[in-house]
Amino acid sequence: MSSIRLVTEIPGPRSRALVARREAATPPGAAKLTPIAVDHAHGSVVVDVDGNHLLDLAGGIGTLAVGHTPDAVVAAIREQAAQLVHICAIVATTESSVALAERLNALAPGDAEKRTVLMNSGAEAVETAVHICRSATKRQGVVVFDGAYHGRTNLTLAMTSKFNLFKKGLGPFAPEVYRMPFPNAYRRPEGMTEQAWVDWHVANLDHAFTAIVDPSHVACVVIEPVIGEGGFLPAPFPWLRRLRELCDQHGMLFVADEIQAGMGRTGKVFAIEHAGVVPDVLCTAKSLGGGMPISAVVGRADVMCAPHPGGLGGTYSGNPVACAAALAALDQIASEPFLARAVAVGERLRDRLDRLMDRHDWIGDVRGLGPMLAMELVKDRRTKEPWVEATQAMNAQTLQRGVITIRAGLFSNCVRLLPALDISDAEIDEAMDVVDAAAAEVERTLR
Ligand SMILES: Cc1ncc(COP(=O)(O)O)c(C=O)c1O
Repeated sequence: MSSIRLVTEIPGPRSRALVARREAATPPGAAKLTPIAVDHAHGSVVVDVDGNHLLDLAGGIGTLAVGHTPDAVVAAIREQAAQLVHICAIVATTESSVALAERLNALAPGDAEKRTVLMNSGAEAVETAVHICRSATKRQGVVVFDGAYHGRTNLTLAMTSKFNLFKKGLGPFAPEVYRMPFPNAYRRPEGMTEQAWVDWHVANLDHAFTAIVDPSHVACVVIEPVIGEGGFLPAPFPWLRRLRELCDQHGMLFVADEIQAGMGRTGKVFAIEHAGVVPDVLCTAKSLGGGMPISAVVGRADVMCAPHPGGLGGTYSGNPVACAAALAALDQIASEPFLARAVAVGERLRDRLDRLMDRHDWIGDVRGLGPMLAMELVKDRRTKEPWVEATQAMNAQTLQRGVITIRAGLFSNCVRLLPALDISDAEIDEAMDVVDAAAAEVERTLR
């Protein structure tokens, strides 16, 4: 039986009416990627306000590794909400927030003793991680990379790449942020092997720490193990390892921003585990809460304990309901069967994407790590000129056929897939049949 059931055109009249109210009540700066309004959802199926059933390959931009309204998470939320909705961790201690910190300390890579501070959003976690590293090192510099996305607070916007979409007109931004090149394997010089490109970037790190900023000034290096918003670009493992060596050599702290790539998204709890690199500090959010807004900074105890009492936290940090949801989500995400299914989902999706790329020469690249996969659309495979219109058309065409997909990429020319990681084979096949049909339509109308 198919999961997709369309009873109106997309968007239907009720979606259009609610979106019109949204547009009248909220500013366009808080943008939307689709014209649909949603009533309810479960697993990978979203039901819009017109009663259309759609398959979700956007997953709340990566917040729904365990799917929509997962039974265990919903039960945990209900139980905790009936008992205590909020107290504020600054006022008193709750079981669920302590248990979550203990759980994350145990899960984070590395043998060192750990501490966790809970926050509300990804950006807040990254900003907090920087505060902690500055306090621990008594240095100010923050190293980030081309293509990075770290959030929308003033400091994290300074750390974010992609100026036009995120930063235009919003500065001035926080100082002491230094951006270095990222080894984007797809956009390497013509004729250069991937190995030579990675080797060049590994060697160039020494140069960058002279030309761009001196290591003695750097508190931390903040890196997404797989760049998310910037286009699902896995950081090459030898390059990550060289960064780790340089951090050790110069007393800089290594911060893994796992907000999009973590929580099972690449088939391991944390994406950095693939590289065998142990970060000093790790930021997690999105799928951590099973859909509830919660984030965490987890790190070496000696580093995490540097800020003075009162230097960290906030009114909602460690909210008991969000923590209860996160504990239930983590029970699932950190389990062997869940991670094994995530790997299988990745293999099935990649097979479909590779076959799609064989059929359409405007799909320039299919890439990612495990089930964190995207395709980059280009006008010409040799020049790699980004094809934004095709990307918009793909998103629109899949939606009209009942599958939610969203874009990514420094040039907004990637289609990224962020499904629930326990999506069934039948749902994958149905959704990818729609992606195939959307691609055929793009070929027919735009090529
Ligand atoms: C890698 C990464 N860091 C930070 C953030 C910011 O998270 P939030 O939107 O919860 O503030 C995001 C959001 O997409 C992200 O992908």
